[in-house]
Amino acid sequence: MRPTIEWTDGKVVMIDQRKLPLEEVYTECRSAEDVARAIETMVIRGAPAIGVAAAYGVALGVINVAPGEDLEREFDRVIQRLAGTRPTARNLFWALERMTGVFRENRLLPCGALGLRLLREAQSIETEDLETNRQIGASGKDLIEDGDSVLTHCNAGGLATAGYGTAIGIIRAAFEEGKKIHVFVDETRPLLQGARLTAWELDKLGIPMTLISDNMAGWLMKSGEIRRVVTGADRIARNGDAANKIGTYSLAVLARHHGLPFYVAAPLNTFDFGLRTGAEIPIEERPADEVRRAGSCPITLPDVPVRNPAFDVVPAKLITAIVSEKGIARPPYGKNLKPWRGNRTG
Ligand code: MRU
Repeated sequence: MRPTIEWTDGKVVMIDQRKLPLEEVYTECRSAEDVARAIETMVIRGAPAIGVAAAYGVALGVINVAPGEDLEREFDRVIQRLAGTRPTARNLFWALERMTGVFRENRLLPCGALGLRLLREAQSIETEDLETNRQIGASGKDLIEDGDSVLTHCNAGGLATAGYGTAIGIIRAAFEEGKKIHVFVDETRPLLQGARLTAWELDKLGIPMTLISDNMAGWLMKSGEIRRVVTGADRIARNGDAANKIGTYSLAVLARHHGLPFYVAAPLNTFDFGLRTGAEIPIEERPADEVRRAGSCPITLPDVPVRNPAFDVVPAKLITAIVSEKGIARPPYGKNLKPWRGNRTG
């Protein structure tokens, strides 16, 4: 299988995640605008993958600057455009800040050389993300026991990253070590990232799984079929509150009620140390029709009033452990995340 996202022959190629698992189609982005649209329309999704795509978008923006065009103005416009695509994942803004730093440091290079320098940076972000995911897997694999059954929500696998995955990375690393694992996959309404993407990935990896609809988790926890929960995150505040796909909060409440561990896996560039608590995390509200339909099929009245927050925030007190490339942090997170923070302000 080709990677989730890659640079090939002057363009960014990404698998179109809207079409999976029925079709394996690849989309080509030749401009920053193409990348912005791909992020907005969820051709590519998942916090780390959005960050990688945005970095390539910035590089394309500079590579495509025409002779005589105002480079600074075009650069700022591209950054604003990409920053406006999706508000919740910290990785998007982290990548734009990193690319902006490289742009400023190399501002005096001729435009062509500057474009290539930015392209190299985007490629480094992609390579580093893959390596980070493997480290998250190595850090977290001992949280999964031989014979375990693990519930995951949405898709925090290779498709949501440059490869390997965060939450799925942990499951994968434990599986690769020879542990017998069974994964329960939440379908994840409204866009069905679990049913469409996580099930597809686990199938390719040969990891045993069972798909459930979102309302089944509580009962399967009570019956003892689910033993722990592992999810990814889109943004983590410095007190450990973690935003992730809508429905994650309910799972954390259910896990606590049933005395089950609830783990969150994310790279350090998902952390937003500038935010005191999760109350400050911006939550994306998506189009109403995503709820009124299942795929392209209407399932209710055409104008029924709808709420569609794409994410929720799990309070730190419900999280048993947070796993990053630096290892495992446990509560109290205010204190125990400090070593991961270093000098960072955001
Ligand atoms: O709306 P999406 O599909 O971009 O939401 C993705 C998630 O919520 C993932 O769990 C999160 O980004 C972590 S991906 C490693």
